[in-house]
Amino acid sequence: MSNKGNNGNNGNHAANGEPVLRIRNLTKTYMQGKIPVHALNDVSFDVNKGELLSIVGPSGSGKSTLLSMIGLLDMPTDGSVFIDDVEITKAKESEAPRIRREKIGFVFQHFNLLSTLNAMENLDIAMRFSGVPKKKRKERAFELLTQVGLGDRVTHKPSELSGGQQQRVAIARAMANEPAILLADEPTGAVDTKTREVIVELLKGLSEKGQTIIVVTHDMEVAKQTNRIITMRDGKIAGDEYRKGVTENE
Ligand SMILES: Nc1ncnc2c1ncn2[C@@H]1O[C@H](COP(=O)(O)OP(=O)(O)OP(=O)(O)O)[C@@H](O)[C@H]1O
Ligand SMILES: [Mg+2]
Repeated sequence: MSNKGNNGNNGNHAANGEPVLRIRNLTKTYMQGKIPVHALNDVSFDVNKGELLSIVGPSGSGKSTLLSMIGLLDMPTDGSVFIDDVEITKAKESEAPRIRREKIGFVFQHFNLLSTLNAMENLDIAMRFSGVPKKKRKERAFELLTQVGLGDRVTHKPSELSGGQQQRVAIARAMANEPAILLADEPTGAVDTKTREVIVELLKGLSEKGQTIIVVTHDMEVAKQTNRIITMRDGKIAGDEYRKGVTENE
């Protein structure tokens, strides 16, 4: 029904005029005692299918708040978020987990893998909640781990993997349910610079295959490699720069 299953349409990437995400007048005000904190202040933008977008800006500018509204982890004070034309900010609280599972893949700074499960099992459990049959889960887990270059590490537990390998498992897990949008908050924040390049290359490759990705980062070396940079300041968009050709391969 929706435009899921993006993988495999090689060459059809980036900014093809089909918004997957629409954000309209998004506002989030936290009350700090009696003082309002405007974490997001009337933010609007669209993201097209296959875009690799980075969000940068000083600490406290609203980046994580924005990501948590898109990922349905929190509700805005005002405004709307549409994913695949569904207004997710109108969803009932009871519907949020299902929408999150079907539409969003999360990648965090500290990987957040389940430490008692191996790589394969970490992916398996994400799909089990979505009701994917066992055989299919196994096939897809192996395919995704191979895609992130870990086909020979599928039975390793997180403690038996390097930081960069753990983050690659986390990215494979985030892709497991074919999300409309992959959200990553500081995905390279806890890895060395060489591993950072591996992670960025992986995200670029996924975006070239049609996966829409939003990366929050402090690291301009990461942002410079994405096709669009939104700069946040005081809860508002202070800049929105398209960087043509960054991930184009021909
Ligand atoms: N639960 C909360 N209650 C009150 N204020 C909050 C809450 N969460 C965030 N804020 C405030 O909202 C503003 C934006 O926070 P946010 O976490 O989105 O910033 P950020 O851009 O992600 O910063 P960083 O780069 O440090 O991660 C900050 O001023 C913060 O103090
Ligand atoms: Mg943050």
